[in-house]
Amino acid sequence: MAMQRTLSIIKPDATRRNLTGEINARFEKAGLRIVAQRRIQLSRAQAEAFYAVHKERPFYNDLCNFMTSGPVVVQALEGEDAIAQNRKVMGATNPAEAEAGTIRKDFAESIEANSVHGSDAPETAAQEIAFFFAGVDIVG
Ligand code: CMP
Repeated sequence: MAMQRTLSIIKPDATRRNLTGEINARFEKAGLRIVAQRRIQLSRAQAEAFYAVHKERPFYNDLCNFMTSGPVVVQALEGEDAIAQNRKVMGATNPAEAEAGTIRKDFAESIEANSVHGSDAPETAAQEIAFFFAGVDIVG
């Protein structure tokens, strides 16, 4: 397995309920290292640009509203096979379909307010990390 980095976002539903530490503990217990982290308020333009791939989807506008409704924690996670490992720890996008013990099963409120985002492939991970972090911000 190769060492990888992936972009993670702790979403407004989770920061509102003060779950950042509990979610970070799940990542660390799964062998993922938080190598960059920042708590920010996304602007509308940032949310629209970050989720541009979903522009034509019916949920795009609501998703951008939700992602700007409160602070988020953006982070780069590093580890063996980090993209897949993070997706396993997060669980399915829809919490109703997520496996027991996953972040989304335990914490998500809905398919939209699903507590965390994680990159889905190496190319998107590189793009998404660069969206929020400069190289000097990441300390492995
Ligand atoms: P995320 O991994 O951040 O990527 C896109 C987000 O769109 C997804 O998590 C959900 O929060 C949100 N979303 C809202 N409705 C849907 C839907 N019907 N299908 C997929 N994603 C949705």
